[in-house]
Amino acid sequence: MIYVTRRAEFSAAHYYHNPRLSPEENRRLFGKCNNPNGHGHNYVLEVTVTGEVDPETGMVLDLKDLKAAIEKEVLAAMDHRFLNKEVPVFADKIPTTENIAIEIWRRLAPNLPTGRLHRVRLFETPDLYVDFYGD
Ligand code: NI
Repeated sequence: MIYVTRRAEFSAAHYYHNPRLSPEENRRLFGKCNNPNGHGHNYVLEVTVTGEVDPETGMVLDLKDLKAAIEKEVLAAMDHRFLNKEVPVFADKIPTTENIAIEIWRRLAPNLPTGRLHRVRLFETPDLYVDFYGD
């Protein structure tokens, strides 16, 4: 198997809040992250695609096309956005690193030029990342 990974960066703001819980429970669970004015992160995204090497091109997929798909499906929606307010899915889903990775998968998987999405890795900080494999 061969895996091709492309990295991209974006900046976004979020806050953590569960409307089904009381303000006290929200503060207890999420601490500083519960501040509705939000805070920002410089996210680093790694998108890994797997597939067959095309004997004609020597590639699994054209990396320009992968870059374009990431820009169109992810960065256009999330870069420099307040995720809770500007990305509709996060109006009622907490934009944790986990949920952002799942949403990125949902947007990218059906829109790859060729190959199959293998993994979405999303760093919230250089020391913290989540991996999503689509199930
Ligand atoms: Ni945060």
